[in-house]
Amino acid sequence: MLPQEIIRKKREGGALNKDEIQFFVDGITNNGVTDAQVSSLAMAIFFQKLTLEERINLTLAMRNSGDIMRWDTIDAPIVDKHSTGGVGDNVSLMLAPALAACGAAVPMISGRGLGHTGGTLDKMESIPGYSAKPSNETFLKVVKEVGCAIIGQTGNLAPADKRFYGIRDVTATVESIDLITASILSKKLAAGLETLVLDVKWGTGAFMASFEDARALAESLVKVANGAGVKTSALITDMNESLASAAGNAVEVQNAVDFLKGTHIDSRLWDITVAQGGEALANAGLAASAEAGCDAMTKALQSGKAAELFGKMVHQLGGPADFMEKPELYLEKAPMEVPIYADTPGMVTRVNARQVGVAVVELGGGRVKPEDAVDPAVGLTHIAGVGTTVDSDNPIAIVHARDEDQVARATVALKAAYVIGDAADVAEYPAVRDRIAPTV
Ligand code: URA
Repeated sequence: MLPQEIIRKKREGGALNKDEIQFFVDGITNNGVTDAQVSSLAMAIFFQKLTLEERINLTLAMRNSGDIMRWDTIDAPIVDKHSTGGVGDNVSLMLAPALAACGAAVPMISGRGLGHTGGTLDKMESIPGYSAKPSNETFLKVVKEVGCAIIGQTGNLAPADKRFYGIRDVTATVESIDLITASILSKKLAAGLETLVLDVKWGTGAFMASFEDARALAESLVKVANGAGVKTSALITDMNESLASAAGNAVEVQNAVDFLKGTHIDSRLWDITVAQGGEALANAGLAASAEAGCDAMTKALQSGKAAELFGKMVHQLGGPADFMEKPELYLEKAPMEVPIYADTPGMVTRVNARQVGVAVVELGGGRVKPEDAVDPAVGLTHIAGVGTTVDSDNPIAIVHARDEDQVARATVALKAAYVIGDAADVAEYPAVRDRIAPTV
């Protein structure tokens, strides 16, 4: 087989068979195909698209390009979620322990922040001592004993995707739903999941800004994941404002602890966490329906069981034993806390959530270059939501910063993010706007 013939076939709109896809993915993994050939195939796929069968074959070939994790010794359904990413999205921190409280095993392999979006891994690492890169034995032990472990990628999962994504990133071929589907799912499936729930976000702070594009991606992900043997559903959720009232690293962990302890719960965060959990429990056969799953999630959260398991997970992965009791003793605080007020009082009618994420990056809470370290202490709290009033008593947000310069830059980004007007102009969307059911 020749790579150029495979590229030509796709360029002309033909459907690649399983062997052709396997040959090309093997070439991506072992450098048998050049960067130019990989980018040419990506561009051909960008324009000519992939059939469902091609997408499934590409996903499986990329999944099989490296390690595949196995959980044979765990006697519970292996469940995980994937979010396409957003601002103030700390759902995983509540979802993982709540699912564990409901009988699921959740080996959650999470990522770092990307661009304006935050990363679960960066958030967890703001807990002193927490080891996000444990040995495989420790990872297995924590999932077995606690029911969940949130860690970063350890093994060599889907190396074909790593190279493919790197080339797509610099050849204007990231924005292909077919390639995004195979990229996301190859990594998730390599983690050895049995069922999956997807949080596909739409809006100003989302990877997919339009609802229609988010829905198309969600449909593709659900069809391919189910076609690859993993029972999966998706929720399409709102990212037109920060999900939590905090955005950053330590501040989002504190927000999650408050949520788990019931001392402060952001309502949209609650809706999405419970809805995601309901889906996951139904997909895993741990609830008769998504609605019954939501009831079980509510109990797991309100009983304090999810909080207890989060605390156990933190401790078993190296964090303080009394973290849940005294998080403020351990989470680093920035030296400055400055409220930012709107120039004119009124109601928040819309928010550019991307700009809110940019404000966090300006503070040093996100990365400009992939190798940058993030500052755990900086970020935003008391973020005003759409439909709330801002005036000289009620700020847009409180900025947690190291110095005046950071405050100034974050203020510019924040003020640019907020549109203040009248109640009649408020653009508010449901937290969960749509659902794509499993296809099996
Ligand atoms: N995230 C991924 O993991 N892959 C893509 O292609 C796009 C977003």
